[in-house]
Order: sequence, then structure tokens, then C-alpha cells
Amino acid sequence: MSYQLKVVDLSGLPPADGMLSQRERAFFETLRFPKRRTEWLGGRFALKQLAAEALGLTDLRQAEVLPHESGKPVLWVGGAPCPLAFSITHSRGYAVAAVSKTNRFLGIDLEKTEHRIEAWANGFFHPSELTDGGDAFLTALWTQKEALVKLLGTGLSLNSYDVRCVNGRPQFFGPALDVYNAIGAPEISVQTCGLISGFMFSAAYGNGVSGGR
Ligand SMILES: CC(C)(COP(=O)(O)OP(=O)(O)OC[C@H]1O[C@@H](n2cnc3c(N)ncnc32)[C@H](O)[C@@H]1OP(=O)(O)O)[C@@H](O)C(=O)NCCC(=O)NCCS
Repeated sequence: MSYQLKVVDLSGLPPADGMLSQRERAFFETLRFPKRRTEWLGGRFALKQLAAEALGLTDLRQAEVLPHESGKPVLWVGGAPCPLAFSITHSRGYAVAAVSKTNRFLGIDLEKTEHRIEAWANGFFHPSELTDGGDAFLTALWTQKEALVKLLGTGLSLNSYDVRCVNGRPQFFGPALDVYNAIGAPEISVQTCGLISGFMFSAAYGNGVSGGR
């Protein structure tokens, strides 16, 4: 596998003091809702452990993860942005982080597999993506799309129809295609699995330049 994963159970997090830098602590204090605080902390705990392993850090506080104004998180090490590709997701009691030393671009997403109404699927997915209507398929498709928008760094500020995953292959249209081309049109792979029982998980990763389209 060309990326490393860390899964954290949010019911057993260590105290924030041992893992947050001063800047992170200041941001953490602005978060009001307990669920959001726990998820934010859990994602950082997962990512900081991976970053420490990948970069040989001895203290989790040496790796800082702070949001850019776009919402995309930035990893800082030694006071400078670190180019290590990474992504964070959280869902229903779990946080997952991924890092890759071999890919420049990475996005992950975790969602609980459950029934969702047809109107949601039709609003969120382009008809070409809907090759099945089952709960596991739609949840997997959702994770693929969110992994892709995290890889692009846009989140869902894009129209969800403009970022498609058809039979496991990404397709970009309109403003999403502009973003994809702007980052160098990397060849992107999407992997989906049931990382945690009852959930779907996807990772989208890519490297190099495929020449645009
Ligand atoms: C990135 C996005 C897709 C988050 O998805 P989500 O399922 O709500 O949340 P996840 O737990 O999977 O991911 C959240 C993490 O994504 C990362 N993230 C946020 N914005 C990001 C961006 N622009 N690029 C890359 N990563 C981003 C952050 O690390 C965030 O965790 P943190 O704030 O604790 O650091 C978000 O942009 C978004 O648009 N959320 C809206 C959710 C939504 O409407 N879903 C559609 C269902 S119908």
C-alpha cells in the first residue's frame, strides 16, 4: 500500500495537552461543541502519530495541523509547512488519518453504512455514477467522492456532480476539472474497503503528471 493509515477510537483519546502545540491549543479552544472537539482532536492524534513515524519526530507537538482559510488542513513541522501528503476523516466514534511519502496527493473518507433516501442519492450523485442502488454501494460512492474532493483540496465547495466516480474511476468537470488541471492532472487511483465493521472507507491518491485532459 502506498499510504499508511491510523485508526483512532474516539472513546479513548489521551489528554490534549500532550499532543497540541500552542497554536493548535488556541484553535482548539475556539471549538465549542464536544463532538467537534473530540473529532478534531482524534484526527490530529491519528495524523500526528503517522507524521512522527514518517518524519522521525519524538514529540507529537512537533507536528502541527492547522486549517488553511480554505478549510484544507496544513501540516507544519519546525514552523514550516511540510510537504508530506496526508488526509483526515472522522465518523461516528472513529477518526482516521493517512499519510503518504510516495504520493503527492491524498484524500480519505470514512462513513457509516446505512440507508439513505433516494432523493439524497439523486441530488448528490450524477446519474452516470449510480450503477447500483444498495446502501453499501451508495455509502462507498459517497466516500469515493469525498476522498476525491479532499485530494483536490476543495472539499464540497464544488458542485458534487462535477466530481464523479464511475466504476471506481474519477472524472472531473467544470470548475473541478480546472482545479484538477491546476494541480498537474495527476493519475488518480481510488481504493475502497470496509476498514471498520459497519463502515465504508475510501482513499484517493495520485502522483506525477498525466498530461491533463
Ligand atoms: C472536506 C469535506 C468534504 C468534509 O467531509 P465530512 O464528511 O463532513 O467530514 P470528514 O470527517 O470526512 O472530514 C473532515 C476533515 O476533512 C479535512 N478537510 C476539510 N476541508 C478540506 C479540504 N478543503 N481539503 C482537504 N481536506 C479537508 C479536515 O482535516 C477535516 O477534519 P478537521 O477539521 O477535524 O481537521 C467538507 O468540505 C465538506 O464539504 N463537508 C460537508 C459535508 C457534506 O455536505 N457532505 C455531503 C453529504 S450529503
